[in-house]
Amino acid sequence: MTTRRTFLGAVVAATAGAAALPGAARAASAFSPAFPKGFLWGAATAAYQVEGNNVNSDVWAMEHAHPTVYMEPSGDAANSYALWPADLDLVKRLGLNSYRFSLEWARIEPGKGEFSVAMLEHYKAMIEGCRARGLVPVVTFNHFTTPIWFAAQGGWANPESPSLFARYCERAARHLAAGIGYATTLNEPNLSGVLDLVLPGDIGPRLLDADKAMQAAAAREHGVARFLPGNPLYVADPQVVQANLLAGHKAGRDAIKAVRPDLPVGVSLAIIDDQAAGEGSLRDAMRDKLYRPWLEAARGNDFIGVQNYERTVWDDKGRLPPPKGAETNDAGAEIYPASLADVVRYAHTASGAPVMVTEHGVNAADDRKRVRLIPAALKELKRAIDDGVPVLGYMHWSLIDNYEWVFGYGPQFGLCTLDRKTFKRTPKPSAAVLGAIARRNAL
Ligand code: BGC
Repeated sequence: MTTRRTFLGAVVAATAGAAALPGAARAASAFSPAFPKGFLWGAATAAYQVEGNNVNSDVWAMEHAHPTVYMEPSGDAANSYALWPADLDLVKRLGLNSYRFSLEWARIEPGKGEFSVAMLEHYKAMIEGCRARGLVPVVTFNHFTTPIWFAAQGGWANPESPSLFARYCERAARHLAAGIGYATTLNEPNLSGVLDLVLPGDIGPRLLDADKAMQAAAAREHGVARFLPGNPLYVADPQVVQANLLAGHKAGRDAIKAVRPDLPVGVSLAIIDDQAAGEGSLRDAMRDKLYRPWLEAARGNDFIGVQNYERTVWDDKGRLPPPKGAETNDAGAEIYPASLADVVRYAHTASGAPVMVTEHGVNAADDRKRVRLIPAALKELKRAIDDGVPVLGYMHWSLIDNYEWVFGYGPQFGLCTLDRKTFKRTPKPSAAVLGAIARRNAL
């Protein structure tokens, strides 16, 4: 498990290049700050990153493996397993009208085929808690982490994985689907096993080796031949894993739709604003590898979830560094507000599906960067909407500073700070900026 943001960022620059829709020039002259009626304004979290003590999840095993690449264990995280009502109150108080969160598969199915009614009830209470506050629940069925038993059976490399995932989706949907507003199956499956293609410099080989050693340690410690976590950096057989994830999305989606055909179900993809520079740019080849199968899989889905944090400029050799003097995030990547709208246009053009921004944000301890980014990115997003791209909503990552996977609690993506001793959440100025836009439904 890794954070893409922190790696992918470190290497960007230049030109514009996402697919333009007809009418772009027309809309540029008639900018309207108002968003469509019913637009969803939300903040996003993922269960593992905020709940705490997910001891049956694969990442818990990886954090405690010897050796591990995790800088620190997740521990109590934000204690959101207990404090979810406070999280929902916070979302409401900020002025947002929706909340994206995920179900922890390992809580719902702690043993293979053993489902916990108590845990399903927990998530049902969260969904009902959203409804009681007038918040639309946007629910991710699986955000990276899988149960330890699943990882110990080869994870997404196991031929049984798509049907195991579909069974879990069906069981969870039967209990929960009635109250859900929008569902996604998987989070950023498009990068699983192909991350080394986008890692800069020697990070790939270095981290891949360390990740491989950690997986081997987890396998030893669990007495199995292979322990493959839900979102590994090192994958020996990426084609197999990608094929199973694609089949898993389809089977999971079918399972949820079978329970509640009118529930909109999609998948969230990580999409970088890949831009081409000069003759023979690698941009299109990279897009084919990183997104094409998933954009095709999303054809005919009710919507496609788009998650964007940055742009990358490709020449004929690789990525260009960030332009000199560009504002950067805490990982050294350029902050480029137009990237979100660019990928929204691209994802819609390539998939034909309506778009929901299920993540967008910035790794920045200095909240002034977030304060500047949010309106600037939303202005470009509104231009895309004016050009005819159907966009259902915008979920900012993240509601609170949280557990940023291998990097632990260092990186700060939150609209609110988290005191890790008292679990007190405190809104930052950027939360007021987003909240004001959401309340007005306009820039
Ligand atoms: C993931 C989140 C992560 C965020 C920031 C996305 O890749 O879905 O889990 O925390 O980006 O790195």
